[in-house]
Amino acid sequence: MTEVPEYLFERSRQRRIDLGLLEDDGSGGGGGAGASGGEALTSSGSGSAEVIAAAKADAKLEQFAEPEAEPGWVSAARSRTKIPMWALPVMFFLPLWAFVYVKLTEPPPEPVTAITEGAATYAARCASCHGGDGAGSDGGGVGRPLYNGEVLLTFPKLEVDMLHWLEVGSEGIGLGNAYGATDRPGGSRISGETGANMPGFGGTLSEYKIYSVARYIREVLSQEPITDEEIAARDVEWEDRGGGKDVSGGGHGGGH
Ligand code: HEC
Repeated sequence: MTEVPEYLFERSRQRRIDLGLLEDDGSGGGGGAGASGGEALTSSGSGSAEVIAAAKADAKLEQFAEPEAEPGWVSAARSRTKIPMWALPVMFFLPLWAFVYVKLTEPPPEPVTAITEGAATYAARCASCHGGDGAGSDGGGVGRPLYNGEVLLTFPKLEVDMLHWLEVGSEGIGLGNAYGATDRPGGSRISGETGANMPGFGGTLSEYKIYSVARYIREVLSQEPITDEEIAARDVEWEDRGGGKDVSGGGHGGGH
């Protein structure tokens, strides 16, 4: 049997006293330590058995204090390459940057003019009856032809009668009543003459939109011969009626 040095027993005993497991009887462990020497282990009976058990418990305590070996996945997580801190704000602002980039690189929207707005209104509200090119009944449409100067023959001046006609339509004029130029080649137009009625747009299109679409059918579809001064004066008139202020193109026109 291997000898256990005396001082180890004493250390263990002291530890147990410290832990409150053993009362200090002042024996100094094993008694007469110096004299008995290595003999203590074999001769001390139940007392030394107790001390051995204590030494074992002590050894266990020390064993538990050992740090446990890390599982593989923990050390893998510790040592893997991590996303650097500076990447966080970069990733956060990336969508914002992409949005701004796209916004800055796309071409600015075309400025709205009376003519571009009139074209849009015509396509949405008039083309179904008068045709995209203004051929009207010449092209199988329900409405009168507005192209090739036709609309200029009915309404020689934009300011006279034309806007009123667009606002009130056939029924507003009164079926059977004449409208437009009385000296029109072929005689003046009569409301309801075609067998179909033109709706009035006063309730659905804003003032400036009626003005724009009137300009569009005159200046574009019927190629009205006008000077630059007249065009400038019409642009002022259009703005006075509210044109060009509403970027969204909505206005109080709207419709059905
Ligand atoms: C539902 C079909 C219809 C729609 C939509 C329509 N029109 Fe007409 N338009 C007519 C008819 C039909 C006439 C002839 C009226 C009549 O005989 O009483 C006419 C006549 C006209 C005339 C008179 C032409 C002439 O020489 O007698 C003008 C100008 C005109 N339309 C412009 C427009 C404009 C501008 C729009 C759109 C804002 C429009 N129309 C929408 C059916 C339509």
